[in-house]
Amino acid sequence: MGTASDIKLIDENNIRLDGRGPDELRPIKIETNVLNRADGSSFIEWGGNKIMVAVYGPREAYPKHNQDINKAIVKARYNMAAFSVDERKRPGPDRRSVEISKVVSEALEAAIMVELFPRAQIDVFIEVLQADAGTRIAGLTAASVAVAAAGIPMRDMVVGCTAGKVGNKIVLDLSKEEDNFGQADLPMGILPKSDRVVLMQMDGDLSVEEFEQATSMIMKATKRIAQIQREALTKKYEIQQKEQGE
Ligand code: CDP
Repeated sequence: MGTASDIKLIDENNIRLDGRGPDELRPIKIETNVLNRADGSSFIEWGGNKIMVAVYGPREAYPKHNQDINKAIVKARYNMAAFSVDERKRPGPDRRSVEISKVVSEALEAAIMVELFPRAQIDVFIEVLQADAGTRIAGLTAASVAVAAAGIPMRDMVVGCTAGKVGNKIVLDLSKEEDNFGQADLPMGILPKSDRVVLMQMDGDLSVEEFEQATSMIMKATKRIAQIQREALTKKYEIQQKEQGE
């Protein structure tokens, strides 16, 4: 969260700097099968975020001491390209990307039927090409689509979304300015069929009432995002059917 600022992030009519109302999402577009060599892939544009995901597996986990005899291990690797942010990011993993890789791996593992693939590994590469706040939840949303596109059995999709507090109001899907200068940011990952929470982090402070308002805003939005995920996957399926028919 940013320091105190004079920037007015939301006006008296509840209109935000980018013209959105409090519970409006930025535009979201998802495509599947964008990479030929991956088992599944996706590309998401969420606001100004542009993120590519490649999925490989399930394949035998290597090195062998990493294998779990009861289930597949899910290894997500979140990486930000050096050119993805305003100030060049030093290439390679840092504490932030290690943390995001861990929470995204755990969220995906809750949705994937890992028990069907003992000793296997599923690799999920999340490459942020352009960052504009909310990259972890946009990456998670796209990763879930790429896993499904790889044909890996899942209990449910995983949908990511954030809510936060700006100008003392609770708003959905924080923009870059809101993330930098707002009062709180709450990224969440949800399994939309059961409303189970598989990722939750918080930056800043929210009262209990504000937290409840933020989570209910996110829960509502996940239904809309899940629909966008389904449409992306159906399109892939339709293309496959057409190719098989030719
Ligand atoms: O991206 P997300 O909101 O999940 O994570 P964050 O750590 O809250 O970062 C918020 C935003 O700050 C990112 O989306 C980037 O736009 C920006 N950022 C940056 O400019 N340089 C970094 N090294 C890391 C993040």
